[in-house]
Amino acid sequence: MGLKVGIVGCGSITRYRHAPEYYANPLVDEIVFFDRNRHRAESLAKEFEGTVAHRFEDLINDETIDAISDCSSNEVHHVHTTKALLSGKHVLCEKPLAISSEHAKTILAAQTKSGKKLMVDHNQRFTKVHQKAREIILSGDYGDVLSFKTTFGHGGPEDWGVTKSNATWFFKKSRSHSGVVGDLGIHKIDLIHYLIDDEIEEVKSFVGSLDKVDENNKPIEVCDNAVCIFKTKKGRLGNGSFSWTYYGEEDNSTTIYLQKGILKIYHDPENQLIIEQPGGEKIKYELEHIQTNDNQTNTGVIDSFVDWIVSGVEPPVRGEDALSSLQIVEHIVND
Ligand SMILES: NC(=O)c1ccc[n+]([C@@H]2O[C@H](COP(=O)([O-])OP(=O)(O)OC[C@H]3O[C@@H](n4cnc5c(N)ncnc54)[C@H](O)[C@@H]3O)[C@@H](O)[C@H]2O)c1
Repeated sequence: MGLKVGIVGCGSITRYRHAPEYYANPLVDEIVFFDRNRHRAESLAKEFEGTVAHRFEDLINDETIDAISDCSSNEVHHVHTTKALLSGKHVLCEKPLAISSEHAKTILAAQTKSGKKLMVDHNQRFTKVHQKAREIILSGDYGDVLSFKTTFGHGGPEDWGVTKSNATWFFKKSRSHSGVVGDLGIHKIDLIHYLIDDEIEEVKSFVGSLDKVDENNKPIEVCDNAVCIFKTKKGRLGNGSFSWTYYGEEDNSTTIYLQKGILKIYHDPENQLIIEQPGGEKIKYELEHIQTNDNQTNTGVIDSFVDWIVSGVEPPVRGEDALSSLQIVEHIVND
């Protein structure tokens, strides 16, 4: 018997990642969809041969459901994920884990109390390119990491989320909370943690609502740009730029400066990882094309969550890894 999973929130990340990847996984037998907009749940149930739950409680009280994906909008993750854990379900929660570290701690306490597995969809840890970069950095062959630069920017979420307009929840303070920082910046803050095995501890930043307007043509309540400088626990210095106003190609690149070389990640679409050596020699790796909003390929996130439940194989990111990144997001947005 395979797993039966429930999904709360049937918007874009469910349509393009959770539903197709569960559907394709041979260890998953059935998907049950719930959304407060019933039509969205029904549409995905039809497409992925699943069933529909009428209330969230029907998902978490269904003893035949093993695990839940929490794909609702940010402001309700702490409600859904906490309740699901305390009802005995394993949970894969979308990022950001919550809209505050206080809420995130409630979730982590529920995880500890329940003894169930909690993973967060920090999917940047799963790309072959980032995994290879981490392996090279941690091998020590290029010496110690000294500094870094990272960027994540595209034209904004109003064409991505299921509400295809400027009325999107991504632009609302009460629902998104942290704007582009919790949407894109958190991916890179988490990625640095993963790549160099060191956590960002201090941050100084500028944030702004530079260009996006809401449905009333007013500047949005959350930031659409953030420029940050970072110091890690081990004293590395870096910077990060996060933007919803890069109105051209998406920029998802990172550069790591080591004592004996430079790692360039996602600077070149063909050679996604390039090592530049002090003498000028370049080592190029062609590993896999980058995933973008318009090009969603299998991320490996769902397979990893399922393997963790079924076989106990440790995933590259667990619930507790998400808290420190969220705390940095809070400093950027609130300080
Ligand atoms: N890991 C990633 O790369 C990635 C990418 C995109 C989005 N996300 C995250 O996924 C989550 C969902 O984003 P999305 O892009 O799918 O948004 P979306 O607007 O397309 O979909 C959200 C869905 O959640 C439903 N919903 C909201 N509150 C609910 C509630 N209380 N009960 C039931 N359903 C509810 C909405 O009706 C909607 O259908 C967000 O937390 C977002 O940050 C992660």
